Amino acid sequence: MSRDNELKVKAISEMSTELTVPGDKSVSHRAAIIAGLSNGPCRIRNYLPSEDCLNTLRAMESLGVKCDYIETNDYGPVELIIYGRRMQLREAGEPIDCGNSGTGMRLLAGVLAGQRFPSTLTGDESLSTRPMGRIIKPLERMGAHIVTKGEKEGCAPLEFDGSMLEPIRYVMPVASAQVKSAVLLAGLFAKGKTSVVQPAETRDHTERMLAKFRVRTVQEGNEITIYGGQQPEAVDIDVPGDISSAAFWIVAAAALPHSKLLVQNVGLNPTRTALLNVLLRMGARIKDVILTPDGDGEPAGNLEVQGSNLRGTEIRKEEVPNLIDEIPVLAVAGALAQGQMVIRNASELRVKESDRITAVVENLRAMGADVTEYDDGLHVVGGNKLRGATLDCFGDHRIGMAFAIAGLFAEGETVITNTECIATSYPGFADTLNKIRNKKR
Ligand code: S3P
Repeated sequence: MSRDNELKVKAISEMSTELTVPGDKSVSHRAAIIAGLSNGPCRIRNYLPSEDCLNTLRAMESLGVKCDYIETNDYGPVELIIYGRRMQLREAGEPIDCGNSGTGMRLLAGVLAGQRFPSTLTGDESLSTRPMGRIIKPLERMGAHIVTKGEKEGCAPLEFDGSMLEPIRYVMPVASAQVKSAVLLAGLFAKGKTSVVQPAETRDHTERMLAKFRVRTVQEGNEITIYGGQQPEAVDIDVPGDISSAAFWIVAAAALPHSKLLVQNVGLNPTRTALLNVLLRMGARIKDVILTPDGDGEPAGNLEVQGSNLRGTEIRKEEVPNLIDEIPVLAVAGALAQGQMVIRNASELRVKESDRITAVVENLRAMGADVTEYDDGLHVVGGNKLRGATLDCFGDHRIGMAFAIAGLFAEGETVITNTECIATSYPGFADTLNKIRNKKR
């Protein structure tokens, strides 16, 4: 029996299952924020009731946004109506806690920078050490007043003074959807044309969500422009399943010969599917069927995966931003594959919920994998049989889940400790794991 805060995993011989994953984390954050700014009631279906997205919802409620929870599961609301406040938020009066969520904090910072009232954003221990200079710099150029109160320079808590914003054109030094989104959301409150230039393509959920709410943005190459002063028009949103959560089961099925997996209703936004391209290069057998076509929302559909023997590959520089959350589990796939898996140009992994390069290297080594750490990535020589081990999550949901998947292939038992963090993105992960590990090798 696993304790509540640990997962015990043993090898399985095959995986034959159909499943759905909870709602997309990135889309849920944006739905809560933009619906709260809209001009009326918005019904959100399949909202992700994870700690990160619940914190964003609570943040909007503390800013005066009324929400009716229509359907709630064991973890929180999955269907709700958010009553938009016509861009007129109310002072929260107390610090707003973003928990573990970089996305929540950075997107809310974009909104709060342009309000006429003061606000404070706080986070947990991990979030309080993550770099906020990347959003503070462009927001200050727009005229925001932000003071960082963290023990580490440039880190949360963040204090905002009420400010009037001016539009800017900002060339982002890092390819980050969170930074792009913070500037675009601040741009909604600035009169005129605010543009962001990204050095590489990043996930485009903010642009798609704004379009759904009839807010015009224009994309020319890697430059995205928003015209300030537009009122988002209330609309209903269906959140697709999160492909970053599905990634764990996709890798497990793809690497286990004779397996068959069907994932239904998962988001297939092309800025999120780089994982599938990399797995296909590794020899995986994956078929995607888009059922809700692209339009002014998010494409979604089903994924069918059949198990095979994978081979290593090199992840390309331009793939990294759209793969950033899947790299821990892809590194596990690399350890299971024949040949070499090379991941470089990924130093952003060091400033995620944990230092994901060190966390992956330490855990893979503890399982007997042959792995080399670089400043900006890692190199795995696949094919060594993995051994069960006791592994920590490093406070990072994706590390915990990636190594639970590794445990499905290891000799002996793998124990993942301190798994509470998994609830930040994937409540119910342990139940699905239990469902699929029904057969022993
Ligand atoms: C996210 C963007 C990504 C990703 C995070 C969610 C978003 O971060 O790692 O989990 O919703 O915008 P960056 O694009 O900032 O690297």
